Amino acid sequence: MQRKRDLLRVVDLTRDEILALWDSALRLKSLKRLPSSLQGKVMALIFEKPSTRTRVSFESAMLKLGGSTIFLSTKDLQLARGEPIKDTARVLSRYVDVAVLRTYKQETIEEFASYATIPVINGLSDKHHPCQALSDFLTLYELCRLSPEEKVVWIGDGNNVAHSWLEVCAILGLPITVCCPEGFDPDENLLAELKTKYQARIEIVRDPKSAIEGATIVSTDVWASMGQEEEAERRKEVFKPYQLNSELLSLAKGNVLVLHCLPAHRDEEITEEVLEGKNSIVWLQAENKMWLHMALLEFLLL
Ligand code: CP
Ligand code: NVA
Repeated sequence: MQRKRDLLRVVDLTRDEILALWDSALRLKSLKRLPSSLQGKVMALIFEKPSTRTRVSFESAMLKLGGSTIFLSTKDLQLARGEPIKDTARVLSRYVDVAVLRTYKQETIEEFASYATIPVINGLSDKHHPCQALSDFLTLYELCRLSPEEKVVWIGDGNNVAHSWLEVCAILGLPITVCCPEGFDPDENLLAELKTKYQARIEIVRDPKSAIEGATIVSTDVWASMGQEEEAERRKEVFKPYQLNSELLSLAKGNVLVLHCLPAHRDEEITEEVLEGKNSIVWLQAENKMWLHMALLEFLLL
């Protein structure tokens, strides 16, 4: 029997698999009538944290392809009363066909996946947000804006979404500039791993102006992620010079595309003007999560 596949990090996929996922997502997007390819399949979403996009786009993707979904907030499961994650994984594997987890710790998803006998998808942890980066780059692929000639810049916190962006860029051989305040760089073990394994071209730049100069693709994210609420006020001070505003963006190329995984904190990491401006592709980016999730569910389940 073929071993089940999980998506816990972007590096769980090969370059060819990522390209095939994107082609499949765009094919599904182009259809007038979607197939009932996942009829009879059941997906559980096990979430420790809030979600609008990831939850609804996964549920909608499954339902539109004929499958069913069960949303499980961890506070309603016996997990909340101390049942181990490894027991939960083995039991749920006997009821459902695939599980999407959103947890505080990456290790929780990894432990669940190691005991589960069904495919497990990371719907965000403290370390990674693979589905986000895969759908963000699907959007760039759709717009024919994926080439090593593009200047890709991640500005703000070197967080979970940044890590997954770095992994996509490493696998696809795209250079990326990361602009974070000192102390907020992406995880150094991850940087070393990507450099060794993929010869990743990652440049860390402290000065926002030099980072954005000539950029053609710029992404940012909240300064305090879920689970870091207590640090939010301190972070606002440190990150202030890293705000994506019109003045900073004027240093980028005229055709620059602005991305944000959302939810956005307007006038913190990004101004209203930039978020709603002509270079922003955030709504298309949000939509494409659903098409990517459809392709991913078919990939893991069929
Ligand atoms: N971008 C994203 O994952 O959004 P949600 O937190 O709403 O799922
Ligand atoms: N970095 C953010 C992403 C939210 C989708 C967080 O983890 O809260």
